[in-house]
Amino acid sequence: MARIVFFTGAGVSAESGIPTFRGKGGLWEKFKVEELATPEGFFRNPKKVWEWYDMRRQAVAKAQPNDAHRLMARLEEECGDVWVITQNVDGLHQRAGSKNVIELHGNIWRVRCLDCGAVYYEYTTPLPEYPPKCKECGGMLRPDVVWFGEPLPMDALERAWDLSRTADIFVVVGTSGLVYPAAQLPYVAKENDAYVVEINPEETPISSIADEVLREKATVGMREIYPRLRERCGE
Ligand code: APR
Repeated sequence: MARIVFFTGAGVSAESGIPTFRGKGGLWEKFKVEELATPEGFFRNPKKVWEWYDMRRQAVAKAQPNDAHRLMARLEEECGDVWVITQNVDGLHQRAGSKNVIELHGNIWRVRCLDCGAVYYEYTTPLPEYPPKCKECGGMLRPDVVWFGEPLPMDALERAWDLSRTADIFVVVGTSGLVYPAAQLPYVAKENDAYVVEINPEETPISSIADEVLREKATVGMREIYPRLRERCGE
């Protein structure tokens, strides 16, 4: 039975109405990375960072998973050995029904207390105040996401590495492949003889190592490839 691993980025949620980071209309065109997605930016102005995250939380709350998320979840249900490694923090893979999800960059619904270290899901949005306070100790909370300059959660990264090494089919969907260490994973898969597929309307650095490229939006590409994946994982 073939092990299928999806590696996803912001592009998989684009058709759910959630903006990507880079490219036309991307968040980093309008907003400053160093102000909003670094620990230094947060400590300089936690209120501003939290306002931005709360705006994104509200957008995610209104969004629905799309067919790309859904077909990945369906394949997992039908085949079992199907995994999603995601750089996204929006939780849409889980809402579509995927259970085997590795989150490399955290989750926008999770908060972490800078005083007592409590980590929990907080779904209230809009939040009552910026920055919000810890329900355990009243300390300052931060979003439990990975910012630039911060290490990825070790357990998630190890699991992702392992899955990439052992994938038979590795499908890269909607990532620019520019942010490391996550962007290393397609190369790990390729070096270990996975069949690498890219689904992305634009060329990326990953295109050159892919065995097959679908220059399509995520939903279109997933609809196209789903029957073949279904056949392979049933082998
Ligand atoms: N379907 C598939 N791919 C799409 C679609 C779509 N409908 N729309 C856009 N894309 C592609 C773009 O061509 C681009 O290659 O999605 C990619 C989005 O790239 P980025 O915005 O760079 O997102 P991502 O690769 O997830 O970024 C990695 O950077 O700042 C961060 O931490 C953040 O996890 C994120 C990391």
